[in-house]
Amino acid sequence: MNLTLHVWRQKNRTAPGAFVSYTEEARGISTDMSFLEMLDVVNERLIHKGQEPIAFDHDCREGICGQCGVVVNGETHGPRRATTTCQLHMRSFRDGDVLTIEPWRAGAFPVVKDLMVDRSAFDRVIAAGGFISVRTGNAPEANDVAVPKQDADLAMDAAACIGCGACVAACPNASAMLFVAAKAEHLNLLPQGHPEKDRRVVAMIDQADAEGFGNCSNHGECEAACPKEISLGFIARLNGDYRRALVKRPRTVGASGGSG
Ligand code: SF4
Ligand code: FES
Repeated sequence: MNLTLHVWRQKNRTAPGAFVSYTEEARGISTDMSFLEMLDVVNERLIHKGQEPIAFDHDCREGICGQCGVVVNGETHGPRRATTTCQLHMRSFRDGDVLTIEPWRAGAFPVVKDLMVDRSAFDRVIAAGGFISVRTGNAPEANDVAVPKQDADLAMDAAACIGCGACVAACPNASAMLFVAAKAEHLNLLPQGHPEKDRRVVAMIDQADAEGFGNCSNHGECEAACPKEISLGFIARLNGDYRRALVKRPRTVGASGGSG
């Protein structure tokens, strides 16, 4: 298949970016290629011409690491539901298609170069509370800690988040709430995650705010864009846990009326 690509090219964080069109380099693309393999072919051709290849994020190319991700014709990870960019195949497109390819757009994800963005804000949100403090070592015997099946299933659903950031890029407010909800609730749902539950939700939401992610306003674009089909229901759970944590937060002694 022959394509026309309009690709966002940007040298670094501060340089102004612009779309550059490629037609010759995107000819004879196999429908069996993944989207990233198509970009590999385009890059080989650019290198042969002595031009700089297009920088894009990727790692596992198996849909599990969360590194890849571009916006294709306005859709995060491209047109297929529940599919990362690396698992998207060119048979999803048609001969002669014109594809506009952009990086994630969010203030908290600055462009590093071309299609690559800096998602270290997600790492700092996880460092703020997305962990448990139980003793590490050998895994405990599975039946030592009884977990209701429904909770175990829900925790697994939330744990499917790969941290790709498509939810942020799809949200009109660049909110990270679906990511934060998945990363907090997969721990909150299990007994091992209970000791830090209150501290976790407050710290992770505070950190997401500090990173400049917007607030959730129930657009639902995040759920539609998520390659792992993380449900909006986790945001509702997180909001409930957050409210409970704030109510339980110890008051500063003497702050309002003392012993009165
Ligand atoms: S919630 Fe979905 S879209 Fe957001 S980071 Fe996790 S896997 Fe990606
Ligand atoms: S490269 Fe790992 S999820 Fe796409």
